Amino acid sequence: MTPPMPNEPIDFSLRYLPREYYVTPNSARVWNYWMGGTDNYAVDREAGDAWARVYPGIRTVAVQTRQFLVRAVRYLAGEVGIRQFLDIGAGLPSMHNTHEVAQAVAPASKIIYVDNDPVVLTHARSLLRNTTAEGVTTYIDADLEDPARILADARNVLNFRRPVAVMLMGIMGHIADADEAVGIIDRLTAPLVPGSFLVVADGTDSGRAHREAAEQYAETGAVAYNLRTVEQLRGYFHGLELVEPGLVPVTQWRPDPVEIGTIEPIAQYGGIGRKP
Ligand SMILES: C[S@@+](CC[C@H](N)C(=O)[O-])C[C@H]1O[C@@H](n2cnc3c(N)ncnc32)[C@H](O)[C@@H]1O
Repeated sequence: MTPPMPNEPIDFSLRYLPREYYVTPNSARVWNYWMGGTDNYAVDREAGDAWARVYPGIRTVAVQTRQFLVRAVRYLAGEVGIRQFLDIGAGLPSMHNTHEVAQAVAPASKIIYVDNDPVVLTHARSLLRNTTAEGVTTYIDADLEDPARILADARNVLNFRRPVAVMLMGIMGHIADADEAVGIIDRLTAPLVPGSFLVVADGTDSGRAHREAAEQYAETGAVAYNLRTVEQLRGYFHGLELVEPGLVPVTQWRPDPVEIGTIEPIAQYGGIGRKP
């Protein structure tokens, strides 16, 4: 049996997923809502709207994080020649997913998605399909807090004697402790060969409204998102060489040219680090 589609009335007696998945906002679905997707329920839209009422910039944060992902993956697959991607905190498949962007540039690219959410798992099975005959697209159901397990499973598909790009887009804030977040990244990047990359996008504490919105969200029972300082985010890249222009608002990371107006900085920061 397949799970009910979002926006349909839910019959809890079906028990596809535990009831809490429908009565508590869910990070992947709220993010999908902010990005303009339809894979979300009323509880997610309410939580997303509540955040946006206090901090209206949040929709831009979601959309621009995806734009940054597209530019980062094109850069890595194109200019640098990376062919292996480990995208942890995949989220619900939406437009311009990592495998689509990478395989459009380099058809033989291998992409492993990782997420710990059963909702994401059900969607991933049907939607995260290879876009080329030469490429590989697969999924690991695992927790970011268990890097050893992620790496062990990833070795079944990726060749760790070759460079790998580890991608952590909008997920590190789900780790409550900032030092633990750094430790997890260290464990993920330790076995990578020189010439491998770390890509991170994360929310910064840009003032009272953003903080309040995040606190209010945490009170819904959803897994909290902890906003960090720019300096804390810089710590994620220790031991790595930051690729130009460094750790910057995601809108400022090698933006595509615009014909009219300017590209404004936002509170979501992103960067790419290279293992020397
Ligand atoms: C805000 S969404 C970002 C989705 C996607 N990376 C993007 O940028 O569009 C965060 C994702 O991280 C996942 N996640 C949160 N904590 C996690 C953990 N401890 N282990 C694995 N995945 C986690 C959530 O299930 C969700 O899909």
